[in-house]
Amino acid sequence: MAAYLSEWLSLIIRWFHVIAGVAWVGASFYFIWLDNHLRKPPEWKVKKGIKGDLWAVHGGGFYEVAKYELGPEEMPPVLHWFKWEAYSTWLSGMALLFTVYYFGSPGYLVDASRADLTPLAAAAIGLGFIGGMLVLYEALIRSPLARNGKAFGLVLFALLVAVDWTLFHIFAGRGAFIHVGAVIGTLMVGNVFLGIMPSQRALVRAVENNETPGPEVARLAAQAKLRSTHNNYLTLPIIFIMISNHYPMFYGHEYGWAVLAAIGFITAFARHFFNLRHRGVYRPSILLIAAIMTVILIGVLAPSPTSVPATPSGSDTKVTDADIQSLIDTHCTGCHAKVPSSPAFQAPPAGIAFDSLEAVKQHREKVLQAAVNSQYMPLGNMTGMKPEERKMLGRWLQQPTQ
Ligand code: HEC
Repeated sequence: MAAYLSEWLSLIIRWFHVIAGVAWVGASFYFIWLDNHLRKPPEWKVKKGIKGDLWAVHGGGFYEVAKYELGPEEMPPVLHWFKWEAYSTWLSGMALLFTVYYFGSPGYLVDASRADLTPLAAAAIGLGFIGGMLVLYEALIRSPLARNGKAFGLVLFALLVAVDWTLFHIFAGRGAFIHVGAVIGTLMVGNVFLGIMPSQRALVRAVENNETPGPEVARLAAQAKLRSTHNNYLTLPIIFIMISNHYPMFYGHEYGWAVLAAIGFITAFARHFFNLRHRGVYRPSILLIAAIMTVILIGVLAPSPTSVPATPSGSDTKVTDADIQSLIDTHCTGCHAKVPSSPAFQAPPAGIAFDSLEAVKQHREKVLQAAVNSQYMPLGNMTGMKPEERKMLGRWLQQPTQ
């Protein structure tokens, strides 16, 4: 019953999290697009202090948007801030982290072959990294390093890769990935809460008091700009991490941390094309290089056909169906059965049930990938599957059926 209810809970929170995330990223993309498409306004608007405007048609009506150089002469009665999208995405993300990873199936987070942690210790380490990185980032953005945008970007990337590497050597792949995501998401929402919002409040206060914004407002605005640039580059990598739990091929890889670093780099680099275009620089070579790097990554990650030795001649090495049946019973069907005996699952995970050896063969490619090549299955190697058993399974899957 507990597993059943927790499944519902995780569905509801995940659903909310995705919707809030869509609203956050959507609003952020929309405002970047707006800034990108502002045109020189007619003279009468310039006189009102408008620096750019645009027209759009959507959902059966015309919209006229104007951006002020500083602010309106008088504060409008209703002003939209766009902050709850960010806060609710983070809050629901943290709730999901707790339900799925800290209170859910321990196999997502703990891999005893990396570190034999209790669920409590694993959660403490995870939260420690999230909090620790936020403190470090906030210290850095207030330091002189923040004056050099490029150097800051490099340091930030190096730090995130270090976190990625460390977590990957402590947690199971999936848990490591999601924690890198949680670290990034926390920095992003911290940027909104600790930098962008204070800057906007200062600006609004100045307009309310009919003052020309002074140097303090300008300093806050410059920092907010840097923070929003960081958020902008982090959007694509964090969305990759959000969907990465569907791809054991990446987080289950021996060098999963490097795969994540590479994909993070490529996606942030691709974002650079759009940011340059925003400044009027059109450089399609960036997209081309990102595409080439992706193709290289696809090549590097391709499973080598030699990783599973084919059956050598000689009958003594032939793997029998009985051997495999007992292997599957020991290592897989606790979870992968129509009615799993593991209390953590209500239904066969990934919809895969090994109720017969035929079913194992039906999922041949995936089984090779998950339990032989990448060793990501059994989850967290909870059943203690040995390398010889993986080889045996690989040989059986590849030997011709007689
Ligand atoms: C402790 C529970 C557990 C055990 C034991 C287990 N699995 Fe899984 N398996 C899972 C979960 C959970 C998923 C879904 C993974 C995800 O969504 O990240 C999964 C997914 C899979 C997938 C799909 C991967 C994909 O690419 O979609 C395959 C194939 C698989 N398991 C094979 C196996 C094999 C073979 C064994 C035994 C050697 C095994 N599993 C043992 C929990 C388990």
